[in-house]
Amino acid sequence: MRLLEEIFLILLAAVAAASAALLQNGNFEFPPSNIKPNSSTPLLPLSKNNTIPGWSFNGTVYYVTAGPSISLPDNGHAIQLGLNGVIRQTIRLTSIYAQYILTFSITSVNGSCKAPTAVLNVSFVGSWFYKSSVFLVEGKYGRKSWESHACSLGRMAGEGDPVVLELRSQSVEADQNVTCGPVVDTAILKRFNPMGGYANEFVNGGFEDGPIFIKNSSEGILLEPTEDLTNTPLFEWAVFGAVKYVDSKHYLVPEGNAAVEIVSTIGAIRTILLLKEGSSYRLEFVMGVPIDSCTGELILGVQAGPTSQNFTLPSNGTGYSKKFSLGFRAETNLTSIGFMNVQGGETSDHVICGPLVDNVSISASLRLQVGLQQLLLLPSLLLAAVLQIDKEFPRNSFSDLVI
Ligand SMILES: *[C@@H]1O[C@H](CO)[C@@H](O)[C@H](O)[C@H]1NC(C)=O
Ligand SMILES: *[C@@H]1O[C@H](CO)[C@@H](O)[C@H](O)[C@H]1NC(C)=O
Ligand SMILES: *[C@@H]1O[C@H](CO)[C@@H](O)[C@H](O)[C@H]1NC(C)=O
Ligand SMILES: *[C@@H]1O[C@H](CO)[C@@H](O)[C@H](O)[C@H]1NC(C)=O
Ligand SMILES: *[C@@H]1O[C@H](CO)[C@@H](O)[C@H](O)[C@H]1NC(C)=O
Ligand SMILES: *[C@@H]1O[C@H](CO)[C@@H](O)[C@H](O)[C@H]1NC(C)=O
Ligand SMILES: *[C@@H]1O[C@H](CO)[C@@H](O)[C@H](O)[C@H]1NC(C)=O
Ligand SMILES: *[C@@H]1O[C@H](CO)[C@@H](O)[C@H](O)[C@H]1NC(C)=O
Ligand SMILES: *[C@@H]1O[C@H](CO)[C@@H](O)[C@H](O)[C@H]1NC(C)=O
Ligand SMILES: *[C@@H]1O[C@H](CO)[C@@H](O)[C@H](O)[C@H]1NC(C)=O
Ligand SMILES: *[C@@H]1O[C@H](CO)[C@@H](O)[C@H](O)[C@H]1NC(C)=O
Repeated sequence: MRLLEEIFLILLAAVAAASAALLQNGNFEFPPSNIKPNSSTPLLPLSKNNTIPGWSFNGTVYYVTAGPSISLPDNGHAIQLGLNGVIRQTIRLTSIYAQYILTFSITSVNGSCKAPTAVLNVSFVGSWFYKSSVFLVEGKYGRKSWESHACSLGRMAGEGDPVVLELRSQSVEADQNVTCGPVVDTAILKRFNPMGGYANEFVNGGFEDGPIFIKNSSEGILLEPTEDLTNTPLFEWAVFGAVKYVDSKHYLVPEGNAAVEIVSTIGAIRTILLLKEGSSYRLEFVMGVPIDSCTGELILGVQAGPTSQNFTLPSNGTGYSKKFSLGFRAETNLTSIGFMNVQGGETSDHVICGPLVDNVSISASLRLQVGLQQLLLLPSLLLAAVLQIDKEFPRNSFSDLVI
């Protein structure tokens, strides 16, 4: 047990010497070699003699310039991946065991393409590592024609080892229509370096450790749903449904620079804490209602171990937040903590919205001096842990939905 605890401390938590600009020309503002810098051609096909700095490509790929019919996050340029279109960039790993998180925006150029036309396959391929995820433009969660997403590409180490980031068109009907296909912009890669620290603390309870925000974007970032606590864009939290990572520049953020808005109904986030079996704790958090004309009775479902409770805040669109707490008894050493959108609202322009969560912390009740440690387990260990929780906890309706 002692050894196990030491391993936890070493693996624990950590954060986050984030280094930006790991990707070259991720916003595609460096144009192809033989195009005039101020060309206004909306779609310029790339060829062998007409490549994009920083990237290699194959298949049908266009260089896109924003204009009346194409809206982009930075109003500049982007890449469209047509039939079999793929772009690649090689990243060199550092020797430190690191996690990589990618932020990017996607849109489709032409609204008359058959939906879902803009399907993007993001993969990260190393000699012993492979992760691939598929994204489509749904246009349900924001006011713009483009959407920003984030996914974790995995945890890796290796001095100078090459890993290839690949963005590929995954058009459902691989039609001959090259004007249909995903448009990709503002790709930004972040690197976390797990280090020691954070014993006796709720890791990333303030949600400060997540993907990099896109400058000037007021839309927030949709986090890729994942149950894997070791490979998630929201450090240490599993993500279910549509959850937005939001910044304090454009959203109501109670504490720090970032918070989460659980957008879709039954969308949720969840983490696992190592607590002392049989002890009592108090979970504290801040619930908020969004600032952007979101109206409705917002209900946040909160689960802490065996205890669940709903918290309700009326939203009239102006945004405010309130601190809440929930007492519970840890029935096992591993305790699941979750937040779920039980009921959301809608903005005046019919975008769905949900409760914000921030500043989550935990304290031992009854003046118990109990060490709290959040787990950073290998997936197999984690799976075992989660299965154990499933077995031991009476499943209430909330955990049924979340797990
Ligand atoms: C942009 O294009 C116009 C004509 O199309 C040209 O006169 C001007 O010099 C160009 N500007 C730059 C910075 O290349
Ligand atoms: C690329 O450039 C080479 C020589 O500069 C030329 O022979 C070739 O035709 C060009 N290819 C295309 C597709 O423009
Ligand atoms: C590029 O695409 C062509 C035709 O689709 C394929 O034969 C070739 O293997 C591809 N090359 C790479 C490096 O993917
Ligand atoms: C952000 O917006 C400002 C003002 O609108 C503009 O000058 C700047 O170029 C934008 N930055 C990016 C990265 O789009
Ligand atoms: C889509 O493309 C068609 C034909 O190229 C064009 O007529 C139409 O205006 C485009 N729609 C948008 C929204 O760009
Ligand atoms: C390509 O898409 C445009 C716009 O949606 C449409 O007008 C045109 O008929 C399509 N062409 C083919 C070959 O499907
Ligand atoms: C995404 O692309 C990779 C190859 O780059 C492929 O192996 C994988 O099956 C694709 N994913 C989907 C869902 O098609
Ligand atoms: C966030 O939590 C800390 C300690 O748990 C507390 O001091 C602070 O007031 C909280 N912030 C908000 C906005 O509730
Ligand atoms: C929370 O509200 C939902 C929907 O009204 C209900 O199904 C659920 O049982 C409630 N949970 C608790 C713990 O009261
Ligand atoms: C919205 O709610 C806030 C907080 O309850 C209140 O201060 C404000 O006056 C309300 N605004 C409107 C337009 O009802
Ligand atoms: C919980 O932790 C205590 C002390 O670390 C240990 O004695 C006990 O066996 C653990 N219980 C379970 C169910 O793992």
